[in-house]
Amino acid sequence: MSTQTASSQSKSATVKKEVARLLGEIFAFNNSLKLIHWGITGEGSYAAHISLDQAIDTLQEATDSLVETTMASLGDLDIVLPETKRPANYVKHIEGFYDHVESQRHIFTETFTQSIFDDYQEGVKQLLFRLKRLQ
Ligand SMILES: [Fe+2]
Repeated sequence: MSTQTASSQSKSATVKKEVARLLGEIFAFNNSLKLIHWGITGEGSYAAHISLDQAIDTLQEATDSLVETTMASLGDLDIVLPETKRPANYVKHIEGFYDHVESQRHIFTETFTQSIFDDYQEGVKQLLFRLKRLQ
């Protein structure tokens, strides 16, 4: 017989939903960087084009670790990918997503998961450094 109470079961179902939502948003954000990579033109765009692909590699690796380690802890997750468009102002889009992840990472309670988030967020900050300062 299960030792979980009804309320702890519904709490863990809510956590799984929140986790799946954030992971879907992260996957969609990674894809948005690819849309920017393909759409970018003009002065300084080659450096940005390359920086975006470097960041995508880092972020996809961290995302894969996040999803797989989370599934190891919580079981199957129902991840849905939100519709993704190329943003008009890509620096603002990237800065906004960084802040969003920072405000949501408390959903994940394991310390090693926080460390994967650090890798993810470091990749986003490194990208912002390159986009804003290197031409
Ligand atoms: Fe490419």
